[in-house]
Amino acid sequence: MKKDLLTLQDITRDDLEKIFELSAKLKKERGDQSFKPLTGKSVGLIFAKSSTRTRISFEVGVSELGGYPLYLDQSKMQVGRGETIADTAHVLSRYVHGIVIRTFAHADVEELAKEASIPVINALTDEFHPCQLLADMLTIKEYSGKVDNSIRLAFYGDGRSNMANSLILAAKLTGMELVIAAPEEERPDSTLIGDAQNIIWEKDPLKAAEGVDYFYTDVWVSMGFEEERARRMEIFRPYQVTGKLFDLAKPEAKFLHCLPAHRGEEVAAEVMDSPRSIVFDEAENRLHVQKAVMSMLMGNN
Ligand code: CP
Ligand code: NVA
Repeated sequence: MKKDLLTLQDITRDDLEKIFELSAKLKKERGDQSFKPLTGKSVGLIFAKSSTRTRISFEVGVSELGGYPLYLDQSKMQVGRGETIADTAHVLSRYVHGIVIRTFAHADVEELAKEASIPVINALTDEFHPCQLLADMLTIKEYSGKVDNSIRLAFYGDGRSNMANSLILAAKLTGMELVIAAPEEERPDSTLIGDAQNIIWEKDPLKAAEGVDYFYTDVWVSMGFEEERARRMEIFRPYQVTGKLFDLAKPEAKFLHCLPAHRGEEVAAEVMDSPRSIVFDEAENRLHVQKAVMSMLMGNN
C-alpha cells in the first residue's frame, strides 16, 4: 500500500481485498485481542469538525491494536493560530507514528501528507471520506458476497458531497454500478467520473431506483455548508429515500447511510428504522476496516 490513505485512489483492488480479509479476521477475533501491531506507537487524531463514529472508532481501534490514541482538537492547536501545515507535519512526525485527520479543505490533508514522514489517513474532508467507503464496501460484501459489477447502488441527494465523490471512486475501483440521483444544481462532478461507464447521473428519483440492490443517502447539509441550509432543503426534497422507492428496486434491496441521519429529511423514518436498514452494521464496520488500514500502514507487522 502507499504511505497514506487520502482517497480511494490511493489503493488498488488488491489492497482492497487485503483490507477486506484483515477486517473480517479482526471482526471475528475481536474478543481475542492478541493482535497488537501498534504496540509502542502513538497515533494523533486531529479533528477540525464534529464526529461521533470516526473519532470513537479510531480511538478504540488504536487502543485495541496496542497503540496510544491522542485526540487533538484542531482549534486548540497552533495550526489554528497560523502555524503552517508543513511545520505541524514536521513536528508531529517527530512525536507520533501516524496521523488521522478530519478537516475542511482536502488540499490541507494533501499538504500534511506530503510534508509528514509518517502515514496520514483522511478521516473526512469537504471532498472525500475514504474510511467510510471502506466500511460501506465491507458491509456490501458481507450482505452480497462480493463488490463488483453485479451490484447496483443508488445514491440520493447531494451529488457533489464528500460521500458522492467517494462513492464515485469506489465504483471506479470495483466496477460496481452507481446511479447518483441528484438535482441539476448539485449534479456529480463529471471530471471525477471521467469515462467510467458504470457511473451515471439521474435526475429522476424514481428512475434511479430501478433494479437497485442498495440505496444510500447522506445529510443534505454537510459540515461547513450550514449557511446553505434553506436552499439545500428545497432542492434535495424530491430525493428523500422513502419506502416507495423500494417497490422499484430488487426485492432484497437494503438501505445504507454513513450517519448521522435526519429522519424526515434525506431519509423517511419508515426506511431508516425498517429491517431494510443495515446502517448499524455499516457503522460497526468503520472500526474493523480502520483497524485493518492502521495495521497495514502503521503497524509493526
Ligand atoms: N459517518 C461518520 O463519519 O460519522 P461521524 O461524523 O460521526 O464521524
Ligand atoms: N457529508 C457529511 C458526511 C458526514 C459523515 C458531512 O460532510 O457532514
